[in-house]
Amino acid sequence: MYLLGYDSGTSSIKATLLDAQTGAVAATATSPETEMEVTAGRAGWAEQPPELWWEHLIKATGQIRAQSGVDLRDVRAIGIAYQMHGLVLIDKDQQVLRPAILWCDNRAVPIGERAAAELGSETCLQTLLNLPGNFTFTRLAWVKQNEPEIYRRAAKVLLPGDYLALLLTGRAVTTASGISEWIGWDFPRGRPAQLLLDYFDVSPELIPPLVETFAVQGELSKEAAGLLGCKPGTPVTYRAGDQPNNALSLNVLEPGEIAATAGTSGVIYGIADTIQYDPASRVNTFLHVNHTTQTPRYGTLMCVNGTGRLNSWLKHNIVPAGQDYPQMNQLAAQVPIGAEGLVILPYGNSSERTLGNRDLGASIHHLQLNIHQKEHLLRAAQEGIVFGLNYGLQIMRDMQIEVNTVRAGDANMFLSPLFGQAFAAVTGARVELYNTDGAQGAARGAGLGAGVYAKPAEAFVGLATTRVIEPQGDLAESYRQAYARWEDVLRRELAGGA
Ligand code: XUL
Repeated sequence: MYLLGYDSGTSSIKATLLDAQTGAVAATATSPETEMEVTAGRAGWAEQPPELWWEHLIKATGQIRAQSGVDLRDVRAIGIAYQMHGLVLIDKDQQVLRPAILWCDNRAVPIGERAAAELGSETCLQTLLNLPGNFTFTRLAWVKQNEPEIYRRAAKVLLPGDYLALLLTGRAVTTASGISEWIGWDFPRGRPAQLLLDYFDVSPELIPPLVETFAVQGELSKEAAGLLGCKPGTPVTYRAGDQPNNALSLNVLEPGEIAATAGTSGVIYGIADTIQYDPASRVNTFLHVNHTTQTPRYGTLMCVNGTGRLNSWLKHNIVPAGQDYPQMNQLAAQVPIGAEGLVILPYGNSSERTLGNRDLGASIHHLQLNIHQKEHLLRAAQEGIVFGLNYGLQIMRDMQIEVNTVRAGDANMFLSPLFGQAFAAVTGARVELYNTDGAQGAARGAGLGAGVYAKPAEAFVGLATTRVIEPQGDLAESYRQAYARWEDVLRRELAGGA
């Protein structure tokens, strides 16, 4: 018996076929092989046509079929993880009305700021645990204000994963955790926030019906089953935003546990059973995948948009063609800690929540033409990302979230030894890396939702640590000095110029 998991990210769609009994990966595929384009009509905007995700989901599934030789009619259940906070609008015939507005698009920042000022921060925080900010709800308000013709035709608002599930099953539904990603969940009342529906004058009809995160959410239509090679009626039994799903994939479900990712964005995500929030909303609190009224589970998420995105920009624009990430990691490791004074601020992928939604851009500082080479740029970029994450971590620490052990998939930027070592040394956290990723997590989630696994402990059969990175005391002082230099540059940039 097999489980099929999808992770629909910003740069690609990954599919994983998991043997439900052993937890072994039967096949895994990523489409496209090169990164998907993000289109930006203006600086700070970010869009993708949702149809592109579907096209690559089908392609990745085809690769899995070819690679594994498994008859996908043996798939028992399907799970979906997806890039969070995106806005997909469909009309009454379930047709997409405009390109999706992605998580890293900053056009709704002024709308969120105005909403917080007019509703009052205290009211917003009490109800939403966040300020309305730059998320799905305020993106919807942007469309209402700027594209009234499209808004008028909208029948439902979907998150990227809801859209993929719709194409799989024909059902336009979402989850409570999903609405919390909109910054649209009324936490005390346990329902979509009337506060924002009223404020933005949005009909509750636009919010899809809610389904449980782990449950039969719909069944594969004949048409979708034909495209995938699965049985019609195969249930979709799990969906979650990619960050809560990353936590699930690492068995990070209980209070005090911390998960991290360093993909296009970098995230540190901590679980609590009591409500906690940052009054300035520089980090955000959502409903975790296993939240119930009886056993509350909240996920507090700190995001740096410009993580793998910066590394990918360097690969495409600085590094000679043909050199890939492993070579970049080797080059970066050839220069000493602190990159001989070169400082890079890793932002530049739209407004950053940890900076109060400022869009600083990425920037290079203290470049010495007689000293620095591309090795320095590569190292300063990796260090800059780690420093950006550490800067955000301070906000979580101020909220009394302890970050002593961090679990992450052995993937993306954690594949760079330098990155992992710098992360551990700078944050002082022990990093445990696991043989998993988001698509595998989505497959395990599907197993839980389908009742293949009776409880989470059973779902993690086969999950193992690949490496543990301890903070190395002898590196701490050099990194402390490098971080201090970096933070000084950041503070000057925030104050208006370095
Ligand atoms: C999390 C966030 C990003 C996206 C990336 O809040 O916006 O990490 O989920 O896909």
